[in-house]
Amino acid sequence: MFKGLAAALLLGQSFAYDTILGFNSTPIIETRSLDEIYHAALLEGGTVTVWHGGDERTQQDTLKAAFEKRFPGITLNITVDLSKYLDGEIDQQLFNGNIHVDSIILQTLQDFPRWQQEGALLNYAPVGLESVFPAFKDPLSASWYGYSIFFWSISWNVEKLPHAGNISSYKDLLKPEFKDQLILTYPNDDDAVLFAFYQIMEVLGTKWFDNLLEQNPRWVRGTATPLNVLSEANSPQSVTFTSFGGLSPGQNINISFPNDADFVSWPQTAAILKHAPHPESAKLLHNYLLSPEYQSKVSWSVRHDIRPSGTMYPDIMHMPHTNPTAFARFMEDRVTVERLRFFFEKRLGTAQGLSPLIDEF
Ligand SMILES: *[C@@H]1O[C@H](CO)[C@@H](O)[C@H](O)[C@H]1NC(C)=O
Ligand SMILES: *[C@@H]1O[C@H](CO)[C@@H](O)[C@H](O)[C@H]1NC(C)=O
Ligand SMILES: *[C@@H]1O[C@H](CO)[C@@H](O)[C@H](O)[C@H]1NC(C)=O
Repeated sequence: MFKGLAAALLLGQSFAYDTILGFNSTPIIETRSLDEIYHAALLEGGTVTVWHGGDERTQQDTLKAAFEKRFPGITLNITVDLSKYLDGEIDQQLFNGNIHVDSIILQTLQDFPRWQQEGALLNYAPVGLESVFPAFKDPLSASWYGYSIFFWSISWNVEKLPHAGNISSYKDLLKPEFKDQLILTYPNDDDAVLFAFYQIMEVLGTKWFDNLLEQNPRWVRGTATPLNVLSEANSPQSVTFTSFGGLSPGQNINISFPNDADFVSWPQTAAILKHAPHPESAKLLHNYLLSPEYQSKVSWSVRHDIRPSGTMYPDIMHMPHTNPTAFARFMEDRVTVERLRFFFEKRLGTAQGLSPLIDEF
């Protein structure tokens, strides 16, 4: 608590001290229907500004289209950029007291408890929050919660590897047939990729990584890049384990989950800023995100009452070989994160190339 207080004092007047001191963190609990909130949002002017972590500008176009179709007259003004860049810009806005973003949805899970403690977030429980797994939300203030499970599966192009069968372990990737076939994101450039390598090497050791290097993987920036590249018919690479393609990726792509070490999964986490310029519009988005209507569209729901539709998979808490609560603890441990980053930087060099958000892809 004292750490939070000291930080807030340094950051100046934009924080509400009553919240820092632990008072007044009781959330407002939403009881209105989506339609009622929609009417309130329209009166606000019809725009909600969202910053969403990711590594392709177009990555949230599906969400934008679904939301705008569902709520005509409301524009989802969504910006996708790397969470590790967006969070610092949010801190800047908080420092300067000029918040222009309504809703933040990021991979940097360690930021949310801190922002909550600093009084930067709206303590507000959307309808449906009660069904979100307890580990994915702040139970007291309701100020942040996961809205969708992101994960890295093993993914490969079945047209290029017709004889691969099912790749069922990280050890499988060391087979001679995958030499020169791997395309991977630099672990020293993305903390969720870093955590993937960490979990694998906890079980298989650094020897696995040495052997992986002998496979001559191609290293790239951005976690969308590997899947994009391997999906192309004429690119040399065909396998990755650092990309998110959902549970039903393209027709030429097969995915599997390893049986020798844990794969990474985490709740991509959302919050409304306390001084959001369009609070009702942000509430509309967040109620929509947690609604059964939207949760049944995501790969793995954050709600315990919704299973991934059209698949054989159990809910994320019962999925073998992943612990969706582990990534938040990893992200809090910045000392370990930094030490690991340098472990990989020493072996791979610094990440080369522009951010995929700047590059002409
Ligand atoms: C949309 O979001 C961008 C980036 O946050 C911001 O600069 C812009 O002012 C927003 N547009 C509207 C109409 O609010
Ligand atoms: C794709 O994966 C499924 C399930 O693991 C498997 O049954 C099928 O044979 C795979 N297809 C190819 C072409 O490898
Ligand atoms: C996966 O591979 C193993 C051994 O290679 C095989 O026994 C199993 O049936 C395969 N599973 C699927 C779903 O294809």
